[in-house]
Amino acid sequence: MTSTHAFWLAGREATGEESFDVTNPWDGRLVGTVGVPTGAQVEEAVAAAHAVREEFAATPAHVRAAALDHVARRLAERTEEIAQLISAENGKPVKWARGEVGRAVSVFRFASEEARRFNSGEAQRLDTDAGGTGRLGLTRRFPRGTVLGIAPFNFPLNLSAHKVAPAIAVGVPIILKPAPATPISSLVLGELLAETDLPAGSWSVLTVPNNRMPALVQDERLPVISFTGSAPVGYAIMDSVPRKHCTLELGGNGAAVVLGDWASEEDLDWAASRIATFSNYQGGQSCISVQRVIADAAVYDRLLPKIVAAVGAQVTGDPSDPATDVGPLVDEAAARRVESWVGEAVAAGARLLTGGKRDGSTYAPTVLAELPDGVTLAAEEVFGPVLSVQRVDGEAEAFAAVNTSKYGLQAGVFTHDIQAAFRAHRALEVGGVIIGDVPSYRADQMPYGGAKQSGVGREGVRYAMDDYTYERVLVLTGLAL
Ligand code: SIN
Repeated sequence: MTSTHAFWLAGREATGEESFDVTNPWDGRLVGTVGVPTGAQVEEAVAAAHAVREEFAATPAHVRAAALDHVARRLAERTEEIAQLISAENGKPVKWARGEVGRAVSVFRFASEEARRFNSGEAQRLDTDAGGTGRLGLTRRFPRGTVLGIAPFNFPLNLSAHKVAPAIAVGVPIILKPAPATPISSLVLGELLAETDLPAGSWSVLTVPNNRMPALVQDERLPVISFTGSAPVGYAIMDSVPRKHCTLELGGNGAAVVLGDWASEEDLDWAASRIATFSNYQGGQSCISVQRVIADAAVYDRLLPKIVAAVGAQVTGDPSDPATDVGPLVDEAAARRVESWVGEAVAAGARLLTGGKRDGSTYAPTVLAELPDGVTLAAEEVFGPVLSVQRVDGEAEAFAAVNTSKYGLQAGVFTHDIQAAFRAHRALEVGGVIIGDVPSYRADQMPYGGAKQSGVGREGVRYAMDDYTYERVLVLTGLAL
């Protein structure tokens, strides 16, 4: 699979003066060569988005919904080809890549459904005081302005879909900047958008390198920034444009709590299997992968060997092999970083129970116990296939352990107790609490985003549509209410 890929400038294909290579993290093979837009081309795309914004906002809902339906249908038709592409440029095992395409289909389908019902408005009578006699408020939502969507490498198609589909659903132009490691899946999204009747200029996919991102971020014609990626980069963006509307989907260090009532053999087998799968899916390169297991002392000694066995059974290897569970990390530097964090933890006294080995860009699924406070792994997002298991006494201690993190994206709580579920919902400082499963569960229509340093704002199709728009009230007077 070697070809040169054009980028998408205001809805049409374009090539720049320079290009860069995208390689497969598994074997270094060339996946494709991608054109880089010149400064003038970036200017053209931004100007076109700015110029079309009023026309696009006025597009009938059925036109936007039909375009979104079209993309959903074409993604579904091309699932296998796109999954192979994601796997090749990202190193994600093909079975997970297929799942990602399926999720992107859902995102576009949800967006088309939401586009049809969004903004019907809410009427509110205002004659509750004498000064409001005969008055009615009608509240509808209007675009904040053109979106700059900055996508990460870990879900190169679906996290691009989460930026693009809601923008189209509300009629807001979007400039999508894919991750430099994985741009080709986002360019395929451009191919499908180009098959629709959306106005020229309403969308672009610009493969600009990261060192040219600040100019886009600063551009006043792009008042909304939707960023998914690391906390340092996200906060640097927000700090550089404090008056812009920024949505930041940042890191996490997902905790799975196993309470004392989750105690049968079947319960513990399920928890161990889910934890093993979701600490290692995409090589752990998901913001909601399981990084910490916090287990009640009542179940810890029975759970730990099950987790170690289930993690040890993960099949590591070539991502194009359908049997592979865990492929490489995005590059060798990422695997070396994980190696050094594990090395630091073990030197400080953590017990290595399985894994702990690197081979090029691949890091073996790893379990640690007795992780000392103060090591990097205890505080930071590992973004690799590593989890640590901690023993706690009781629910209060477990919930407090979850909250020690500076991050707060999602948490999983294995319990059968509905009261404990409600207490978890109240106590845990995260954007989502998943009962009976790992923190990694995400349905694409649900609100998704963080508390604390995991970011600001929410994605999840309807929630991003709200985020891209603001309420504007129309007050009607002299009415016979
Ligand atoms: C993320 O890494 O934040 C996205 C996780 C997902 O969409 O499943």
